[in-house]
Amino acid sequence: MNPSMEAIKQSILVGQPLIQIISYEEKRVEGFLLRMAEQVIKSPDLAHWDINHGLVKGNAPVPESRDPVIAIDTVINNPEPGFTVFRDLGPEMRKSERVVRKLRDAYKALKGKRKIIFLLSADEYFPQELKKEIDIFPFPLPGIDELGALFDKFLESMQRSGRQVELNDAERRDFVIAAQGLTLDEAYKAYMKAFHNQQLITADLVKGIHEEKKQLIMKENVLEYFTQRFGMDDLGGLDNLKDWLQKRRRAFTDAARDFGLEKPRGFLCMGVSGCGKSLSAKVTASLWKLPLFRLDMNLVYSGMAGSPELVFSRALQTMDSVAPAVLWIDEIESGISDKQGDSSSSRILGYFLTWMQEHTSEIFVAATANRIDLLPAELLRRGRFDQIFFIDLPTRQEREEIFSIHLKAKGNEVSGFNIPQLAQITKGWSGSEIEQVIISAMYEAFNENRPLNEDDLLVIFGNSVPLATTMEEQIKKIRSWAHNRAVRASKDVEY
Ligand SMILES: Nc1ncnc2c1ncn2[C@@H]1O[C@H](COP(=O)(O)OP(=O)(O)OP(=O)(O)O)[C@@H](O)[C@H]1O
Ligand SMILES: [Mg+2]
Repeated sequence: MNPSMEAIKQSILVGQPLIQIISYEEKRVEGFLLRMAEQVIKSPDLAHWDINHGLVKGNAPVPESRDPVIAIDTVINNPEPGFTVFRDLGPEMRKSERVVRKLRDAYKALKGKRKIIFLLSADEYFPQELKKEIDIFPFPLPGIDELGALFDKFLESMQRSGRQVELNDAERRDFVIAAQGLTLDEAYKAYMKAFHNQQLITADLVKGIHEEKKQLIMKENVLEYFTQRFGMDDLGGLDNLKDWLQKRRRAFTDAARDFGLEKPRGFLCMGVSGCGKSLSAKVTASLWKLPLFRLDMNLVYSGMAGSPELVFSRALQTMDSVAPAVLWIDEIESGISDKQGDSSSSRILGYFLTWMQEHTSEIFVAATANRIDLLPAELLRRGRFDQIFFIDLPTRQEREEIFSIHLKAKGNEVSGFNIPQLAQITKGWSGSEIEQVIISAMYEAFNENRPLNEDDLLVIFGNSVPLATTMEEQIKKIRSWAHNRAVRASKDVEY
């Protein structure tokens, strides 16, 4: 059984009388609860309540019970053990303190009586007063077995309607894996769409399922799907980091597992602003040919999508279901830290640490940090990230590469520039600043209707000061922190 289902079962077994389950999948959850009722209290029935029907027990509606207070009272007064599901009670709890009070009464009255009230809804609203009394569980999405069963049934119905199925076992499995991360209903719809008007069902059609899944991620609006645009050639210098990535190109293959290697968990890039931390995350995904998803922690905390803890855990679950993939968490210190006195951020940190340690899905975390001093020590301990890289200001050699990359990328003829000289005079400039200067200089040239030349660049470099000069103290601090704790991303050392 899935760990969250196991946790619900434990809660039932210890006699917890109020249990909240969060899921869009009413039918699936109620199917699970019915199985629990059969096992635990030998009852073949599940009573349920909703605002339109009131309380319904054994197919018979209880009079007047659309009022939730009466419905809860009925549950309390029932002498028999029994499970009752309240669907979408949230709005009623919001509206009326009587309902909240009644639930607290129910907690006392039902404790240990094998009478359990389940609150089932897609959002996790519950009133503060009930915080101590209620156990809350997000219900896991369907796993491989459930999806497999669905797909088999689906294929049978296709065949019955005269379609021809040409799938071997491995291809069949691809369809099942492709639907991971979807609810059963969504998976069903995805199969319907993908097979619509197809007389012949072949491995090819799996693309349709992937398309559906991309849509799903877009709905989960704290995760952003990145189309891959940056390759190794777009990243100047940072040869140690590049080596590390190159050596792990086949890290997410069966061959690596057979060889006895565990899958890598992730890296953390820390260092000076504008030197390629975010770019490294993007490059990792393209090099390894994995999809890249960025988790926006600001959105997580905005509360727009629900309570931060829930949104965060759901996002990680979604990631688990789209594996293999790279999960990019930019500026991790702003989202995952133990800000004093903020319980939601410390729960998020706790959840993240456990997930980092225990997730079995092939998700590689590419995290970046500017203010590493804000990061909690637990996050930096061995066993969380495979490596912590320090990205410093580019060395002379690296600046040469950065000049070539950006001059070329913006359509300039690189041979017309004295690159070693440009690198020489830009000591202390970051990659991003170099890029910005090239852009400004190109505007000068564009304005005068001529190609960019070296003097345009020299003028701007001569007249401005890089951030490193104004932030000297801060950079010294970052360097001394990194000295013993991180590996330099650059191979060469001559600035
Ligand atoms: N080593 C590099 N090679 C090529 N381009 C670079 C390099 N470093 C920085 N750049 C350019 O600067 C831009 C900004 O870099 P990036 O976003 O990776 O910096 P960062 O380290 O994440 O900075 P911040 O801390 O401000 O987020 C990149 O998109 C790229 O165009
Ligand atoms: Mg960045």
